[in-house]
Amino acid sequence: MTDSDPRPPLHILAFAGSLRAASYNRMLLRAAQELAPEGMEIEVFDISGIPLFNEDVEQAGVPPAVAAFRDAIAAADALLIAVPEYNHGVPGVLKNAIDWASRPPRRSPLSGKPAALLGASPGQTGTARSQTQLRASFVFTNTPVLPQPEVLVFRAHEKFDAEGRLTDEPTRAFIGKLLVALADWTVRLVR
Ligand SMILES: Cc1cc2nc3c(=O)[nH]c(=O)nc-3n(C[C@H](O)[C@H](O)[C@H](O)COP(=O)(O)O)c2cc1C
Repeated sequence: MTDSDPRPPLHILAFAGSLRAASYNRMLLRAAQELAPEGMEIEVFDISGIPLFNEDVEQAGVPPAVAAFRDAIAAADALLIAVPEYNHGVPGVLKNAIDWASRPPRRSPLSGKPAALLGASPGQTGTARSQTQLRASFVFTNTPVLPQPEVLVFRAHEKFDAEGRLTDEPTRAFIGKLLVALADWTVRLVR
């Protein structure tokens, strides 16, 4: 995008599937904000206020935190999701948020919304299994997920400093490539 380009910046809504303060996945999103290419802005949404999904609650009235999450997804050009891995799967807090956002089926804000995934874990496989699992859920929600690059940040404890800044240069470069690919994916799909 150039100065003469009349289009507004791509607005990316990012969220991480971990609630802990020192979360590597939340740190990844901070790094993504630093690394966003020209013409892209990344807003981080905190999913900690989203209650456990319950269809009875949904029918009685969508909770404000869920409405805010759905509205933020609807307003974004694309999503960036930092996916931790628990027991070879998607952590409950993240799956729960996705389940709320997936309603109503086929008319949810997730339908047609471009998305990209990344994830960090201290282990050797860097969230490969949980990312694959989330991709499967996104088939049902009709959410087109960027195929490549797959950003799997393994041995995460070695890649951030004490202030939570991503210091590993190859990982920073890889996230930069992911964001450029997400911009291209978004423009191709929705602009
Ligand atoms: C209940 C639980 C299960 C976990 N299972 C996995 C796992 O299957 N694979 C993995 O790589 N790490 C696993 N871990 C380690 C997490 O990757 C690690 O706690 C990571 O820091 C969580 O992400 P966060 O830093 O964003 O909070 C597990 C951690 C917990 C608490």
